[in-house]
Amino acid sequence: MGLHLLSSFLLALLLGSSAAQQANTDGFFVRDFLQKMGGDVPPAAGEGGDSPPSVCSWRGVFCDTSGKRVLKLSASAAGLSGEIPENTLGKLATLRHLDLSRNNITGFSSDFWGLGSSLRSLNLSGNQISGRLPNNVGNFGLLEMLDLSHNAFSGEIPTTVGSLAALRILNLTGNKLEGVIPDGFLGCRSLVVVDLSSNQLTGRIPEELGSALRNLTVLNLAGNRISGRLANFSGMASFVSLNLSGNQLQGSVQGVFQAPLRVIDLSRNQFQGHVSPVSSDSSFNWSRLEHLDLSENHLSGELFPDLNEGLSLRHLAMARNRFSQQRFPSLEKLSRLQFLNLSATGLAGGIHAGISRLSGLVVLDLSRNHLTGRIPDLGTGDLAVVDLSFNNLTGELPPALLQKLPELQRFNFSFNNLTLCSAELSLESYRSSFLGSQNDCPIAANPELLQRREKTRRWGLKVKLAVAVAVVMAVVFLLTGLVCLAVGCRRTRRWAAKQLSVREEPTTVSGPFSFQTDSTTWVADVGAAAAVPVVIFEKPLLSFTFADLLSATSHFDRGTLLAEGRFGPVYHGFLPGGLHVAVKVLVRSSSSSPEEDSGAAARELDRLGRIRHPNLVPLTGYCLAGDQRIAIYEYMENGNLQNLLHDLPLGVHATEDWSNDTWEEEEKKDGAQSITSEGQATWRFRHRIALGAARALAFLHHGCIPQIVHMDVKASSIFLDSSFEPRLSDFGLAKLAGGDLAAEIARGSPGYAPPELAGGGAATAKSDVYGFGVVLFELVTGKKPLGDDYEEGETSLVSWVRGLVKRNEVAAAVDPKVSETGSEKQMEEALRIGYLCTADSPAKRPSMQQIVGLLKDIEPIVDQ
Ligand SMILES: *[C@@H]1O[C@H](CO)[C@@H](O)[C@H](O)[C@H]1NC(C)=O
Ligand SMILES: *[C@@H]1O[C@H](CO)[C@@H](O)[C@H](O)[C@H]1NC(C)=O
Ligand SMILES: *[C@@H]1O[C@H](CO)[C@@H](O)[C@H](O)[C@H]1NC(C)=O
Ligand SMILES: *[C@@H]1O[C@H](CO)[C@@H](O)[C@H](O)[C@H]1NC(C)=O
Ligand SMILES: *[C@@H]1O[C@H](CO)[C@@H](O)[C@H](O)[C@H]1NC(C)=O
Ligand SMILES: *[C@@H]1O[C@H](CO)[C@@H](O)[C@H](O)[C@H]1NC(C)=O
Ligand SMILES: *[C@@H]1O[C@H](CO)[C@@H](O)[C@H](O)[C@H]1NC(C)=O
Ligand SMILES: *[C@@H]1O[C@H](CO)[C@@H](O)[C@H](O)[C@H]1NC(C)=O
Ligand SMILES: *[C@@H]1O[C@H](CO)[C@@H](O)[C@H](O)[C@H]1NC(C)=O
Ligand SMILES: *[C@@H]1O[C@H](CO)[C@@H](O)[C@H](O)[C@H]1NC(C)=O
Ligand SMILES: *[C@@H]1O[C@H](CO)[C@@H](O)[C@H](O)[C@H]1NC(C)=O
Repeated sequence: MGLHLLSSFLLALLLGSSAAQQANTDGFFVRDFLQKMGGDVPPAAGEGGDSPPSVCSWRGVFCDTSGKRVLKLSASAAGLSGEIPENTLGKLATLRHLDLSRNNITGFSSDFWGLGSSLRSLNLSGNQISGRLPNNVGNFGLLEMLDLSHNAFSGEIPTTVGSLAALRILNLTGNKLEGVIPDGFLGCRSLVVVDLSSNQLTGRIPEELGSALRNLTVLNLAGNRISGRLANFSGMASFVSLNLSGNQLQGSVQGVFQAPLRVIDLSRNQFQGHVSPVSSDSSFNWSRLEHLDLSENHLSGELFPDLNEGLSLRHLAMARNRFSQQRFPSLEKLSRLQFLNLSATGLAGGIHAGISRLSGLVVLDLSRNHLTGRIPDLGTGDLAVVDLSFNNLTGELPPALLQKLPELQRFNFSFNNLTLCSAELSLESYRSSFLGSQNDCPIAANPELLQRREKTRRWGLKVKLAVAVAVVMAVVFLLTGLVCLAVGCRRTRRWAAKQLSVREEPTTVSGPFSFQTDSTTWVADVGAAAAVPVVIFEKPLLSFTFADLLSATSHFDRGTLLAEGRFGPVYHGFLPGGLHVAVKVLVRSSSSSPEEDSGAAARELDRLGRIRHPNLVPLTGYCLAGDQRIAIYEYMENGNLQNLLHDLPLGVHATEDWSNDTWEEEEKKDGAQSITSEGQATWRFRHRIALGAARALAFLHHGCIPQIVHMDVKASSIFLDSSFEPRLSDFGLAKLAGGDLAAEIARGSPGYAPPELAGGGAATAKSDVYGFGVVLFELVTGKKPLGDDYEEGETSLVSWVRGLVKRNEVAAAVDPKVSETGSEKQMEEALRIGYLCTADSPAKRPSMQQIVGLLKDIEPIVDQ
């Protein structure tokens, strides 16, 4: 019995090893092949006399039921390299499927093509096989799939491929095949998928392709040098996808619409003629089409009239043809559309508003047309690429699009006539995407950087303040708690009720309202005050009305009057929620036409509200009360530069004496509120004001499209916020003031107006530069532009300082009140910059962008 067991064991061992290892078995050939090509080879024999594993159990090997013959070998990405050697794979007579894709195979021995005629699929994709495709390829009579893509096969496709009557998939893309597509090719009547793209094939598409290859579904001949006309595709009932992109085909594209295609790519050829009759002439069913690309051909006439029937369209490109000038097509029904490229298609007039219904749009290219008018709302949901460059579009970007810009992959609005002023864009994208309208942006137009610096500077102060506030609050709560315990909280509640009634009282008030100041009377011709809304930009959910403005300013009481500016009176007050605001009434002159569009005013104010920069006083909101435009600004706690340099107290700050302390030290002690004027005597402080104001102007001149000319640059337009950061005010208001007032403003303020305005010239950015030069003189000399006493009988600050500069006696002009030593040179240099700014000829004055650079060069050293 023991003997019997032993002999059967030996028998099994013998049988097992014969399948795997014996010469001239499939196992032997496969093993030899893998070994010679540098692939992984399973162990030759088991440890301790175990039977070696049968070849059929190797990964990627599949055998017939006998367990001896290999039917399928899959060694994709198995690290094989070199030529397939003789007496290996060529001997696998029963092999049906061979996949050696993604290796480094460079060629094969001649006996490879002797592989049994049973081969059904061969995948050598992604190797480095070079040389001609041998005629022997025709030997595989049962072959259904041949994938030789991405190798280096060259020469012609052998006519013998025509004997592959069972071939369903042929993929030869990415080789160096040349010559014509052989007629014999049409013998492969079972073909379903053909990809011959990215070779160097020439000649024509075989004439009878359509009638020969009835089952063809996918044909890709893109990226060759095929010429001639389209074949006749009618009757190809299962034809779904055609790619002929990047060849030299000519003639009409009509033939393509005779097949039930879903994907048509005829781009980058030389197709001619009109496309408009295509859809009407044929029985083409638009609703199937998903992808249509006819771009970069010579097509003329107009676009398809019935485009809107392409309900399945996801991708539509007709770009760069020779279409005649035409209106924007209606395509609002193409709800699946993701990609729309109508660049250079002769589109004129407005962009069809229906485009806003295309909510799935990812790529939109309408560049290089003659589109005019405003950009309509776009379905911004998935939008990633927008190119509207080279048109004549005007107005602003729709707010939703503007907001979306930072998330887009790419956008381009260059060479239009668009209005844009957004501090949210990065300088780089601003520079590259809004080309062609104005100069490049200055440093100042990158407020992100400035803000960041600002934040870190204030950080330390904030922490200290926060700690102090926390301590005070804790004490207050403790005390309140004790009082409440003792007396009950009735008083507090009554107080709150009273506040509420104050808030509600004015809602019943009705107009018209009339208000008086020292110099003017203005009327708000409105009905119920509570029915006139106040727009607050950053907090659209706050619903204020004119009644709230009345209540905040005690009915525009003279006691709340801050100033009477050239545009009208300015009041201050607190809106509900603790918004501290300056309310500027842009009093309308009698000459402005009453029917002037208040919508235009609202649009202009909306635009001004979007212009943000750390050195501009932000417009918080506005109210259109009858004829009056009321602009609401953030309140600037530390007054303006005029007050600071020349006047006595107005508002919260005082200018008693110019002591020696620097304000920075003050700030460290007590926080911004208690900073008084001591520090204003330092050059450091004054330089900071000059640089901030220059940045603001540079932003308006070079960072906004169209450019904003301030028209009233002077010391009293430069305000100081709670941390004494300079902020320019009143930008853009000149445009809102109509009639006489506009004309008066255009003449400039006394002492700040450049000579060209006196001669009746128009204000330009260079007029602002002049005004800035005067402010710079004021900062360095401490003198007023007019009326101060200047030496040597001069009547104005400008002529006095310019005289000194010319005589090289600038030191005499420096404000003796400036306490620091060591900054004289920088102050003298500042006077020279002012000298450049106040040149008589506007062309000789530097740009604000250059002035920012010059001022940065004389920045005082921060460390003391
Ligand atoms: C093919 O060979 C190259 C070097 O000739 C090597 O970098 C690459 O990794 C190889 N690829 C495979 C799949 O073995
Ligand atoms: C051939 O192999 C490649 C790489 O493994 C694969 O992507 C491709 O689909 C295969 N070809 C066919 C026709 O199955
Ligand atoms: C075309 O496809 C049909 C249906 O799949 C099939 O019956 C027919 O044999 C195919 N024709 C050729 C020539 O392969
Ligand atoms: C041909 O092969 C390439 C590379 O394997 C592949 O990307 C392409 O989709 C194939 N063509 C078709 C029509 O399947
Ligand atoms: C057509 O082929 C070209 C070149 O290979 C390719 O860029 C393009 O995406 C293809 N078109 C379609 C619709 O697949
Ligand atoms: C295309 O072939 C069909 C028959 O398959 C024929 O009726 C039609 O006229 C041909 N079209 C052209 C433009 O030759
Ligand atoms: C187009 O095809 C759709 C379905 O694919 C069908 O509902 C519609 O009736 C067809 N239209 C025409 C004009 O044949
Ligand atoms: C639109 O088509 C033109 C011409 O083919 C091409 O240059 C441009 O890159 C395309 N635009 C996009 C966004 O793909
Ligand atoms: C834009 O309009 C101007 C003036 O009407 C015209 O000269 C110019 O050719 C237009 N540009 C385009 C691209 O249509
Ligand atoms: C640009 O738009 C402005 C108004 O926004 C208009 O006055 C000007 O003529 C336009 N320029 C061109 C070239 O169309
Ligand atoms: C926008 O278009 C202009 C003109 O073609 C080009 O110079 C610029 O680089 C483009 N910008 C971007 C961001 O693509």
